[in-house]
Amino acid sequence: MELRHLRYFVAVVEEQSFTKAAEKLFIAQPPLSRQIQNLEGELGIQLFERGSRPLQTTPAGHFFYQHAVKLLSNAEEIKSMAKRIGLIDRSVTIGFVGSLLYGLLPRIIYLFRQQQPHLNIQLVEMSTTEQLQALKEGRIDVGFGRLRISDPAVRRILLRKERLVVAAHTSHPIAQRTEGVYLADLIDEKMFMYPTSPKPNFSTQLLNIFAEHSLVPKNMHEVREIQLALGLVAAGEGLCVIPASADTIRFPHLNYIPILDNGAVSPIFLTARAMDRSEDLQLLFDCVYQVYDLEGIPYQRTVFTLDQNPIDDSVGIDF
Ligand code: BEZ
Repeated sequence: MELRHLRYFVAVVEEQSFTKAAEKLFIAQPPLSRQIQNLEGELGIQLFERGSRPLQTTPAGHFFYQHAVKLLSNAEEIKSMAKRIGLIDRSVTIGFVGSLLYGLLPRIIYLFRQQQPHLNIQLVEMSTTEQLQALKEGRIDVGFGRLRISDPAVRRILLRKERLVVAAHTSHPIAQRTEGVYLADLIDEKMFMYPTSPKPNFSTQLLNIFAEHSLVPKNMHEVREIQLALGLVAAGEGLCVIPASADTIRFPHLNYIPILDNGAVSPIFLTARAMDRSEDLQLLFDCVYQVYDLEGIPYQRTVFTLDQNPIDDSVGIDF
């Protein structure tokens, strides 16, 4: 006896007719009658009163019907529970560099959670270098970072290049230059760099940008993290260069001034295992673009497919 036999039997009882039950089940009547006969044969009992119109169950048939309904409903429950467990078990662990938390990362993750309510989404703060190792060891599935680090096992996609701004106390002459300043204007200033985590990190990237403009800042101080650097700037201790999206960090008497040089940008990369075929990755990628659309951020869309070049830096916008 299979579940299909129970389904056929229940349909015949509820429709009180083989013809109507066959229509409901989308099968022809003769095979339906045959299946019920087989069932009666297997049980060795009669399930329907012969010649009754409308069709009536025998007492044994009635007992069998009540339990068949329960069994079928249990089977449905098992099916949907298994599906739900399967969905809940799907998980995506995302590594990210701290500064992205002050920009679009929370919106992107919130949207991803809303659109994928069954997905178990975990966030882990780590440097771009750590993300590479974590991807290869399977501790994370996606990384969002700022450094252009390559590895044949990892696919890297440039999402966009973000402008840099300089934070200055309102009493500092640079704070009045609301139209913007150049990197050359900053080299004699006391500047706080972050983080102190192992290099390469954001401060390495910043020094490279100065070097690409043939500039060497003369008075640099490294501090543990962005909040600390900006707190010190708000105390009138010096200046600090940050990615523009982190200007959501507010301190009294703190102004953010755009840096006007073309190369004064910090890229944002998405990295994933080169062979990862997961649809969840594509869905997360879509959320990034949806937030860019909502924020009016220009980008050049790329399709996240497997046959894509593992390193794709061509998709970002060059300012
Ligand atoms: C962005 O600001 O473009 C961004 C931040 C976090 C993850 C992805 C993109």
